[in-house]
Amino acid sequence: MKKTIWKNPNNFNELEVNENCLIDNRTGEQFIKDENEIIQFIQKEEIDGSNKKSTDFYNSFAPFYEIGQKIWYSFFGGEKKARMDYLNYLDIKDNMTVLEVSIGTAANVKYLTKNADYYGIDISMGQLLQSVKNKNKYKLPITLCYANAESLPFKDNSFDVVYHIGGINLFNDKQKAIYEMVRVAKKDAKIMICDETEKVAQKYEKLPYFGKPFKNREKIVPPINLLPENVENIKTMEIRKGTLYIITCNKK
Ligand SMILES: C[S@@+](CC[C@H](N)C(=O)[O-])C[C@H]1O[C@@H](n2cnc3c(N)ncnc32)[C@H](O)[C@@H]1O
Repeated sequence: MKKTIWKNPNNFNELEVNENCLIDNRTGEQFIKDENEIIQFIQKEEIDGSNKKSTDFYNSFAPFYEIGQKIWYSFFGGEKKARMDYLNYLDIKDNMTVLEVSIGTAANVKYLTKNADYYGIDISMGQLLQSVKNKNKYKLPITLCYANAESLPFKDNSFDVVYHIGGINLFNDKQKAIYEMVRVAKKDAKIMICDETEKVAQKYEKLPYFGKPFKNREKIVPPINLLPENVENIKTMEIRKGTLYIITCNKK
């Protein structure tokens, strides 16, 4: 377990690193590293609203997520090419410290340099367990956390790159999550946010099983207006025939 980067997601106290847990010495709270080395910052029972809808969906779909993605990406030239369409915007260099918010099955990290130090958080334990498999299979240099994007367990100014792909449209509080991504990014760090456009969500919501999380959602607009003031170089674009939006910026 690495030092110095951790804070209690429920307050601003730094966490001390012990062998099997992180400890908040002021409150006595302990955040356990489980048998799969996933650090537990939340409990299933506290997930609610749209986050719960999304978590329930991903927990049930997690064992089939990777094969589903392979089939979907076959329409866009294969998984590696399709993922590199957005991963190329990250500019990850050797020895950087990188955070993926909503890491899912760690499918993106497979295609990135192995010489960086990755952290991944997700609210679905099902997805994180698939990440563990990929971490072991591909020897990914990654620390996994069971956490909510809206309360990150990291201190301010910790990461050289922070990115998120594919979940924010359905978060309970998009602005809180975006402020968190910016808070934990270092000065000048690249931040990227990417998710489906309204156009594709309208198609998804009609599907019997996959459509469930998309039903009764807010209309999707790329959340540029939710960015805090301490970012610059804001760029936004749509890729893959208008199915995905990408926002990139740097922390001031
Ligand atoms: C479409 S998947 C994307 C996974 C991965 N980023 C990828 O590109 O394959 C969306 C992910 O967002 C996660 N998620 C949804 N709400 C979340 C929240 N509030 N905090 C953290 N992760 C969340 C889901 O559990 C799921 O793994």
